Amino acid sequence: MERSHSAANAAADRKITFTRTATCKAVLEKQMAIEQTLSIIKPDAVERNQIGAILSMIEGSGLRVNAMRFVHLSKPQAEAFYAVHKERPFFGELVEFMTRGPVVVIALEGDNAVSAYRALMGATDPAKAEPGTIRAKYGSNLGENACHGSDSAENAKTEVSFFFPELS
Ligand code: CMP
Repeated sequence: MERSHSAANAAADRKITFTRTATCKAVLEKQMAIEQTLSIIKPDAVERNQIGAILSMIEGSGLRVNAMRFVHLSKPQAEAFYAVHKERPFFGELVEFMTRGPVVVIALEGDNAVSAYRALMGATDPAKAEPGTIRAKYGSNLGENACHGSDSAENAKTEVSFFFPELS
């Protein structure tokens, strides 16, 4: 009698444990969002032989390189890519800088990749970027800030397909 009572308790415990595990898994899956984002290693970092160091930080963070290409942007390409900034006073300077030499365009994938990569890059202005971030380590100023990253999941889709239409 006592035996079957404890067997019933054990079965009930197992059921509770299973239910908890299933719930935790569902919560975790909901929190995880596998995304793509676009990274550009800009001409200043390419000129200084910093491609490898930046890629190493990207891979070390757990983000995966899905596709990567070395490209020297033409003026119309840079203008089209940064069209959202065309009314800003720094637009001409930005286009001139981005066409100064080759860049490395990279489609990254990972859990919450857009915000994960933005955290890894640090603030747009390297002087304000958290120590240890890409821009704090390799950026020079607001214009020459070593790297670009998409600023939202929606823009990431547009930017990834700008350089890698085959991924969309
Ligand atoms: P990025 O993430 O590539 O997106 C737009 C870029 O414009 C930004 O990084 C900066 O490099 C650049 N930018 C933003 N503000 C300024 C500014 N005030 N002067 C020059 N460049 C700027």
